[in-house]
Amino acid sequence: MFITFEGIDGCGKTTQIKLLAEYLDQKGIKNVMLREPGGVKISEEIRTLLLDAHEKIEPITELMLFSAARAQLVETLLKPKLAAGISVLCDRFYDSTTAYQGFGRGLDVAMIDNINKAATGGLEPDLTIFLDISVAESKNRTCRQIADRIEQSGDNFFERVRAGFIALSEKYPNRVKRINVEGEDVESVRNQIVVVVNKYLCEHANA
Ligand code: TYD
Repeated sequence: MFITFEGIDGCGKTTQIKLLAEYLDQKGIKNVMLREPGGVKISEEIRTLLLDAHEKIEPITELMLFSAARAQLVETLLKPKLAAGISVLCDRFYDSTTAYQGFGRGLDVAMIDNINKAATGGLEPDLTIFLDISVAESKNRTCRQIADRIEQSGDNFFERVRAGFIALSEKYPNRVKRINVEGEDVESVRNQIVVVVNKYLCEHANA
């Protein structure tokens, strides 16, 4: 299984990935957690460049850097794990590029679709958990941290990014599952994710 987690900054992905990893461990399903951008040396170095709040990066450069980081991760770590029968839980994947660089920065989404395919060699997640939260609530959750370059992009940017994720969940309803996290506690979100994953496992038990 290849499961990705998506949503605007502060939606609680990192906590929920860990909880799902524990759940899969209990079920005896081997898994690893990866994050984007990152996971391998080259991609972690690109991540440092991308998040540096002192740099001004052009939208097209940003797109290429996120995609380059992804290509390296996919070929050198993600595909080998899947080939070895290990499930991968990834904190963000190409839907973030569509939402942030496409809807957020305003780059052409059809072009991004092509770049996403090239960067992943056509690899698609089996399931994408989209944790949906309002921009106001996400700001409350992240306000105590120092904002990185992307987090400094402003409320209108994040409204567009959120709209992008919602559009993706409507375009790919079988893959992208929208889970409302606004006002929900960690346990209730975790339980909703477990239901989605178990449904997927049941439907693909004989595949
Ligand atoms: P990170 O600190 O991992 O944020 P989060 O914990 O919210 O995932 O930083 C990743 C940032 O990069 C985040 O603001 C989303 C952004 N991003 C893009 O803009 N495009 C992408 O393709 C990816 C993978 C991430």
